[in-house]
Amino acid sequence: MLGPATPPLELVASTPKGELKNPYNGDIAAIAEEGHHRYLSAGCNGCHGGGGGGGMCPPLTNDTWVYGAADDTLFRLITLGSDGLSKAGYTRLKHEVVVGPMPPFGAIIKTSDDLWRIIAFIRSVNPSSTKLIDVPYAPNPY
Ligand code: HEC
Repeated sequence: MLGPATPPLELVASTPKGELKNPYNGDIAAIAEEGHHRYLSAGCNGCHGGGGGGGMCPPLTNDTWVYGAADDTLFRLITLGSDGLSKAGYTRLKHEVVVGPMPPFGAIIKTSDDLWRIIAFIRSVNPSSTKLIDVPYAPNPY
């Protein structure tokens, strides 16, 4: 059975493209702080900055999304990394201030629930991205 405890890699492998959906979308403000803790403990801040504002890697707070900002796409990118996403057929749609590969976190983030909380944190620091939650990955999605 797939559920909150399902490891991200397993959820990605067993869910058709476009169908991953954050159960916390209605509750982003409430879940953001816990998501932030998980973001920090996974080490995302080393590249994206403590608040997601960027650093040596792209900011998560701006309106440029390399592959779009759908829940499904962000979950797959963070799980598979840039190389894994590319193998799954995705190409960069936009170029960020920094262009480079993101490493895969599917083996570091233990459960899908943890990753959804992290994505809720990202939405909390980038509220305008919420309008893209359901916009599927496609060339020129916006
Ligand atoms: C080693 C540095 C590094 C770490 C650590 C890292 N990332 Fe990234 N991240 C990147 C790079 C580089 C990109 C751009 C990827 C590309 O262009 O393919 C990226 C892209 C992203 C994007 C899409 C941003 C956009 O503008 O489209 C998100 C969301 C993201 N990372 C989330 C995370 C999360 C969550 C974590 C922790 C679990 C994390 N990253 C850890 C380097 C990193």
